[in-house]
Amino acid sequence: MEKLVITGGTPLKGEISIIGAKNSAIAIIPATLLCNGICTLHNVPNIIDVKLSCEILEQLGSKITWIDTNSLLIDNRNINKTHAPLDLTSKFRASYYLIGAMLSRCKEIEVGLPGGCNLGARPIDQHIKGFEALGAVANLSQGKINVKADKLVGTNIYMDIVSVGATINVLLSSIFAEGTTTIDNAAKEPHIVDVANFLNSLGADIRGAGTDLIKINGVKALKENVTYSIVPDQIETGTFMLAAIASKGDLTIKNCIPEHMDSLTSKIIEIGGNVEAYGDVIHVWSSNRPQKTVIKTLPYPGFPTDLQPQMGVVLSIADGTSIINESIWESRFQYTAELNKMGARITAQGKSAIFEGVSHLTGAPVYATDLRAGAALVIAGIIANGTTEIYNLKHIDRGYENIETKFSKLGAQIKRIVE
Ligand code: EPZ
Repeated sequence: MEKLVITGGTPLKGEISIIGAKNSAIAIIPATLLCNGICTLHNVPNIIDVKLSCEILEQLGSKITWIDTNSLLIDNRNINKTHAPLDLTSKFRASYYLIGAMLSRCKEIEVGLPGGCNLGARPIDQHIKGFEALGAVANLSQGKINVKADKLVGTNIYMDIVSVGATINVLLSSIFAEGTTTIDNAAKEPHIVDVANFLNSLGADIRGAGTDLIKINGVKALKENVTYSIVPDQIETGTFMLAAIASKGDLTIKNCIPEHMDSLTSKIIEIGGNVEAYGDVIHVWSSNRPQKTVIKTLPYPGFPTDLQPQMGVVLSIADGTSIINESIWESRFQYTAELNKMGARITAQGKSAIFEGVSHLTGAPVYATDLRAGAALVIAGIIANGTTEIYNLKHIDRGYENIETKFSKLGAQIKRIVE
C-alpha cells in the first residue's frame, strides 16, 4: 500500500508549470476514433485515467505509443471491435465518450456502465437522449450499455441539465450525422471548447463551442492526420492557486489560461489573497489569514465543483464562518469528515457545508475519498502542524501527474512511501 507522508508548515514558494487537462485528454483520446488515421497529441497528462483510456482504445484495435512523457501517437487505422472490455470501461467515468465516438465511427458500441469518483448519482440520461434524437437505439442491461444506429441524422437537441459529459458525447456522435445538429443549453467548460477545437482541426464543422448553443454541420469524413496540444488543466491550476493561499505562499503558475480561472480569482481576492495574471502566467500569493465567504458551485463560468474541496481547506482555516453550497454533485463533502480529523470544524449536510474557521489544522492519518478530495487533503497536510498521512492514493493518481514531485519543488515536505 502506498501513502503520502507530509510534514506541514512550509509556505509554498516558487514556479510550477501546468500540464494538459485531464478532463480534456480523456475526451480527446476517444475522439481520435473519428480519425481513420494517426493523431499526435501533446501536453497529455501522464495519469492513470489517460492510461486507462489508451488501454481501452488498444482493445478496440488502436496502436498507441508514448513518444515522450506527455505526447501520444494514436494510430486508429485498424479498429476492429465494437465491444469494449466491460472490466476496463466500468472502471472510470469517461469511458462513456467511447459511445459517442464509436457511434460516429462504426454505428455501434457496447461498454460497461461508467464508474469513476463516488460523488452521488451519476445518470447518463442526457447522453442517451442525445444519441436517440440523432437516430440511435440504446439498450441498458446487466451493467452494460449497447448503442447502435442505422444512420445518424442531425436534429435540435435541448439538454435538460447542463452536462459536460452529455455535451461532449452528443458532439462526438453528431460529427458525421446528416445535416445540422444543434445542442442547446450546452455546457461551456474549457474542455468542451478543446474537444471542439481538436475535432475542427481534423476537419469537423462545429461552431459555438464555449457558448450554450453549439451547432454541428455534419461532414462526410475527417482528415487522416492531426497534431494537437491539449489545453492546460483549469483544475490543476486552481489546485496550486488554492495551495498558495492556504499556505500563505507565493507561486508563479506557468502554462495556464488565466481567463479560465476568473471565478476562482475573484473569490481569492474576496477572501484577501492576491492574484496577478499576464499572458499564460498567474502569480498568486498571500500573507494573511483568509477571510470567510459564501460559495456556490456552478457549471462554467461559475465556481467549479472540482475546486470545491480544495477551497474547503482554505475556508477551514479562514477567519469567520463560511458556507459552501454544492449544486452539481450530491455527495461531494466526504472530505470534510477527513478534515475534521485534522481539527477542522465543518458541518456538512446534503449539498451544503458550514465551515467554522479554526486557527490551524493538525496532521492526522486521512483517507482520500475521491480525486479532488485527495488534492484537498494534500493541501491540508501542507498547512497542518505535524505529520499527515494520506491513504487511498489511487484516486489522486487518476488525475494529478506526480503530485508529490510538483509540491516538493515548491518547498512542501511530502514523500510517497510504499508500505
Ligand atoms: C465532468 O463529469 C467531470 N468528469 C467531473 O470531474 C466534473 O465534476 C463534472 O464534469 C462537472 O464539471 C469528466 O470530465 C470525466 P456532468 P460529468 O455530466 O460529465 C447531472 C473530476 O474531479 N447529469 O456535467 O459526469 C449529474 O448527475 C471530475 O475531475 C444528469 O442528470 O458531469 C450532475 O449533477 C469528477 N444526467 C450534473 O448533471 C446526465 O445525463 C453535471 O454532470 C448527465 C449529468
